[in-house]
This record gives sequence, C-alpha cells and structure tokens, in this order.
Amino acid sequence: MKTHHSFAATLIAWQRIHGRHDLPWQGTRDAYRIWLSEIMLQQTQVDTVLPYYGRFLARFPDLASLAAAPVEDVLALWSGLGYYARARNLHACAQAVMARHGGVLPADPAQLAALPGIGRSTAAAVAAFAYGTRAAILDGNVKRVLTRVFGIDGYPGERDVEQHLWALAERLLPAQDVDVYTQAQMDLGATVCTRARPACGRCPLAGECVARRDERVAELPAPRPRRAVVVREGRFAAILRDGQVLLERRPPRGIWGGLLSLPELPEDADTAAWVGQRFGLDVVRVAPLPDFRHVFTHFTLHLRPERVDVAASGGAPGAGRVWLRLDALADAALPAPVRRLLERLAAEGTPTVAG
Ligand code: ADE
Repeated sequence: MKTHHSFAATLIAWQRIHGRHDLPWQGTRDAYRIWLSEIMLQQTQVDTVLPYYGRFLARFPDLASLAAAPVEDVLALWSGLGYYARARNLHACAQAVMARHGGVLPADPAQLAALPGIGRSTAAAVAAFAYGTRAAILDGNVKRVLTRVFGIDGYPGERDVEQHLWALAERLLPAQDVDVYTQAQMDLGATVCTRARPACGRCPLAGECVARRDERVAELPAPRPRRAVVVREGRFAAILRDGQVLLERRPPRGIWGGLLSLPELPEDADTAAWVGQRFGLDVVRVAPLPDFRHVFTHFTLHLRPERVDVAASGGAPGAGRVWLRLDALADAALPAPVRRLLERLAAEGTPTVAG
C-alpha cells in the first residue's frame, strides 16, 4: 500500500457504489438498533441474524423495554443464535445504560466499551454508525483486510500483532465519513476479501495489496497456532412423560448458562437410579439415543443422550425445573443441539408409558 491516505478514500468511494445499503440496521441513527445489530453480528453471519433481528425488535422496540424484561425472555429470543453470553450481556448492558446514562447509549467509545458485552471494536462501530464518532474498528474482517493489504505477518489474535493492527487502523481513519468508511471495511471483508477464495478481481485495493503482489493471499492472515482439539463428553437424560420432557435450568456460568437443558448425568451414574433419586421419578425404561457432536469455541462436546421414560405419577419438578410439552418447543430458551434432539423425539412420537 503506497499511501495511507488513499486507503480510506478508495474504500469510501467503493462503498458508495458496491457496498451493502439495504440491511435493516442501516439508514438509521438509532443507537439501540445499531448496537443490537453489532452484538448479533459478532461471530454470526448477516443471513443468520436477519430473522432474529426482526423478531427481537418486534418484542423489544427500545432499550427501556429490553432493560425491563426478564432475562429468560431475552434468552428465549436468542435461542439458536449461539454464544449466549451475548444475550446475557445485552440485557445487563441495557440495564446499565438505564442506570448510568439515562437510557441513551453514549457517543464516546470509551464509555461504550465500559458497558457489558461491548469490546473496543464494537464500541467504535456503534459510535461511528450512530453518532459519526471518529473511531477505529478492528474485527475479524478488518484484520483480514489489513494483514493482506499491508502484508502483515503473525497471528492477528496475538497481542503484539493485534496492537500493531490497532495502531494501523487508527492511522488509516479518514477525517470525514467515518460511518461510510466503517461499513466499507466490513463489506469489503464480507463480500470481496473473504477468507476462502477472495474476489481480488473485484477489489478496489488489488493494485496496492502486498499479499496479492507477493502471491501470499492464501497465507494471510496467519492462522492461529495449532492447539490440541479438546473433546468433552456429556451424558444427557431426555426424561419423558406423556409427551413432555423434563428440563432443568443450567447454572449461569459455563456452557448454555441460564438456558433450559436436559439434565446432565454424572459420567458413571446408573441412569434409572440417578433419575429416581434426583427427581423422585419412577423409571419405566431407559434406551440410548444416537450420539452427536456440537462444536464450541474452545472444545467439542460429544453428547451421549439417553431416553428415559417415567411413570405418569410421582415426582415434583422443583425449582429451576419444568415439564415442557414436546409440541411447544418453539418458545423455550433451548440450546440449538438440545432443540434439534427434542425435535427429533417429537417427530418420532413418544407413546405414553403406563405407570
Ligand atoms: N458485521 C458486523 N457489523 C456489520 C454491519 N454493520 N454490517 C454488516 N456486517 C457486519
């Protein structure tokens, strides 16, 4: 890249013609709507976010309504989007903005970044889109564009490399049109400078791109240094009675924190004895269900579910437990793999077992 000045000017001109202009969080200065979109778009593709975004805004049209809602309602609307800490932080952030900022998201990126769930890059994006604040973003898309255009080696998640990229991103900021520039970087990364098979033929920066010149586009950004793949096992009990399944709320920390899920069996427990003792239920039949895997950020969970039919009488749900009808899964705050499992069970039908 010859001059830092031409980087922003080129991107702004490109965005006006080739960028995305019709996404539902564009064409507004409503900081609430912009913030919500940026949180949903973290680690999640636009196409996945779109239906969630519409449903969420229909239920929570403004920050005050979100802050006043029970967190369970927020989690239920988030169910299936993954990374549920985002939903819990979203709710906590709305409450913090009510308490600390009179219900209005601040325009200062430092104040935004002090709120739950808002990192430095998201703070800058919200400030730029909602208030035109001159602040640099550095998300995965921007890291990819910068490492390629400027030929920067090293894994961008590593501290020194990341600091170098932040400094570069700050130097590249234009004096004006920061909102257009910010969207341009996101759109170029998402639609042209993609991770696999980038469309360099359509890239406005191709003539100045170091990675392209040196034929290193496929090598940059440098991948994360290899770590061993961690696989965890989990036994889960699908306890069924009269077309209903017993669900337990997960502890707030850890995987699926705060969501309703299938009770997790201790590794060595005898299923019938454990279910009988813990829930006071009368087990009629235990049968293994097909196992499957679910990939989390830091490990893969190998789920080994068991179907446990229990007698119609006896047992009380107790705190944090509910019997959920298998034909009413849609509204419950369930982790995506648990939902899929229960949908399969519902489709198979669950004959009533006499007690
Ligand atoms: N990813 C993160 N923020 C985005 C935005 N505003 N538009 C499109 N993709 C994004």
